[in-house]
Amino acid sequence: MDRIRIVGGKPLQGVLPIGGAKNAALPLMIASLLTRETVTLHNVPRLSDVRQLMRILGNHGADAAISGKRMGQAEDAGDTITLSARDIVDTTAPYELVSRMRASFWVIAPLLARTGEARVSLPGGCAIGTRPVDLLLMALENLGASIEIEAGYVVAKAPKGLKGGRIDFPKVTVGGTHTALMAATLADGTTVIENAAQEPEVADLAACLIKMGARISGAGTSRIVVDGVPRLDGAHHAVLPDRIETGTYAMAVAMTGGDILLQGARTDLLQSAFDVLSAVGAEVTQTEEGVRVRRDGRGIRPVDVTTEPFPGFPTDLQAQFMALMTKADGVSRIRETIFENRFMHVQELARLGARIRLDGDTAIVEGMPTLKGAPVMATDLRASVSLVIGGLAAEGETMVHRVYHLDRGFEALEKKLLRCGAEIERISGER
Ligand code: UD1
Repeated sequence: MDRIRIVGGKPLQGVLPIGGAKNAALPLMIASLLTRETVTLHNVPRLSDVRQLMRILGNHGADAAISGKRMGQAEDAGDTITLSARDIVDTTAPYELVSRMRASFWVIAPLLARTGEARVSLPGGCAIGTRPVDLLLMALENLGASIEIEAGYVVAKAPKGLKGGRIDFPKVTVGGTHTALMAATLADGTTVIENAAQEPEVADLAACLIKMGARISGAGTSRIVVDGVPRLDGAHHAVLPDRIETGTYAMAVAMTGGDILLQGARTDLLQSAFDVLSAVGAEVTQTEEGVRVRRDGRGIRPVDVTTEPFPGFPTDLQAQFMALMTKADGVSRIRETIFENRFMHVQELARLGARIRLDGDTAIVEGMPTLKGAPVMATDLRASVSLVIGGLAAEGETMVHRVYHLDRGFEALEKKLLRCGAEIERISGER
């Protein structure tokens, strides 16, 4: 297992390119199962989750290639993926493939919409509390599917095709909205999705589906209307920039000090977090090339944050923001409202000397002038990057273990940080 070694204390300077959003690329790739034609996606990040999803789609019959090369030929070449699911050869998504990544469960929607049946293993993914799929199944039932659970698999059937219907989510769910949107595109009639997730990744999926011939209005708002069509075509689509990667590096520079240009980033995808960073004392400006984030030698102001669905402060930046607050000049409160048990980074940050107390869904962080490097263990995708941020700002050496979590969601993390002046290296293999 690889490790990442960091010697902290260096301010970040220079240009850091932001890749395509993982959380948009995954549903966009899955949407390719809705059509016999070729879907070409540009600006796809080179991540282990993307490669894993290519395997899953391949199992259903999709011919998948990265910049013209098939899996195994040149896995890291290029950022263009072509997916052609001419025939669906298998409607089962097996446990071995799905258990590693929760988003792969979403294949249930296109498989069902296109073939009338799907058998998909209940999902795995990051260990951040129970993450049920009841609302995704409710959405499919409202479109006329029958759902049964058999030996750890969800078996969904709609032999006569899906029918347009009304889906009113009692809670905002990104995956539920993606699933409902994909299923509704091929349903017979009109579907109305109420209390839909407004995340930019939902709007990006809808934009691609519209290019494929879907009739969708309102994506990016809380009410989406879909008029079903009998078939969809291929399309070319560029994945939108990764706002979580953007926010992560913005938090890092706010913590270490320095001046970086997050090339290709957009403030409009992350206004809530940038407002918080401004309140903390960082200077954030949108330029033609991207987002520039600076913090000079002055202190880090403590700011309270509550995670919320978009446009609120994202749960996927909660751990990174907590790392930043461990060096603030005072006490801050960070409340997590999206996922239970998303505080696994707390005890690892404590190993760097951070003072954090948990009270229910709230972490109370007492800022310290200095953190000290230590060996730490990554527990999930976003938690692990908070340890990298902590390590960049800590005195001395931090060794982050189990970095495969990072490779699921952050492309070339150590290379990007190295180019911005960090002392960071990946150490391959077992210790
Ligand atoms: C997506 C993101 C993830 C992000 C999360 C919230 C991807 C690949 N992942 O995850 O990075 O942290 O949105 O912004 O895009 N819920 C239910 N029943 C369901 C579905 C969800 O109770 O059927 C609950 C969840 O447990 C959670 C909340 O709804 O408490 C939000 O989850 P959801 O938005 O669905 O998260 P994901 O789509 O899995």
